[in-house]
Amino acid sequence: MKKIKIAVLVSGGGTNLQALIDAQAAGIITHGEIAVVISGNPDAYALTRAANAGIASAVVSKKQLGGSQEAFEAGILAEIEKAGAELIVLAGFMSILSEDFTSRFPRRILNVHPALIPSFCGKGFYGLRVHEAALAYGVKVTGATVHFVNEIPDGGEIILQKAVDILPGDTPEVLQRRVMEEAEWKILPAAVETVSRDLLAIENL
Ligand code: GAR
Repeated sequence: MKKIKIAVLVSGGGTNLQALIDAQAAGIITHGEIAVVISGNPDAYALTRAANAGIASAVVSKKQLGGSQEAFEAGILAEIEKAGAELIVLAGFMSILSEDFTSRFPRRILNVHPALIPSFCGKGFYGLRVHEAALAYGVKVTGATVHFVNEIPDGGEIILQKAVDILPGDTPEVLQRRVMEEAEWKILPAAVETVSRDLLAIENL
């Protein structure tokens, strides 16, 4: 059976990438397969995770490309095309992609965000900052969202969300870990499988 080739874009630790790799091994993702992992950061541990799983990877560093967004996105695009990827997953990818890039892949780019969009999202809300903001506001429930990516940061159509309780004494680090374990690592693989299955169905029409 044909599978949808997936490019996973990462920047750091790559626990969401690991969740995708594990879901593929466990048969939770069956209609898609990770073809390449692309990192914006040469030191990302996510690259080691890809290597350990025998998955091809590439580094596209904006800094090494002279700092231009155009060159950065052209580099990413070249790796996506080389891998033949039809679906792009932003798994802890910390750069905002331009409209020029996102408009090439309507409903073919997914992102996982560590809050219940439209709370604590958009420009400036990434990584630990999201959890710091949730704790500072005093919300009692947070969570994670998987959504399609369009030209508005964290503004594309929502695919899946899962709520997570905030508990007394939570630090940003403790909360981040709970949101990952209880929400992100579950809804990201589930969304990737659903979207891959839907893309295959469209191709087979
Ligand atoms: C995750 O919590 C992810 O949702 C978040 O960064 C972390 C990356 O962890 N992404 C964003 O904030 C994007 N706006 P990981 O590298 O271990 O998957």
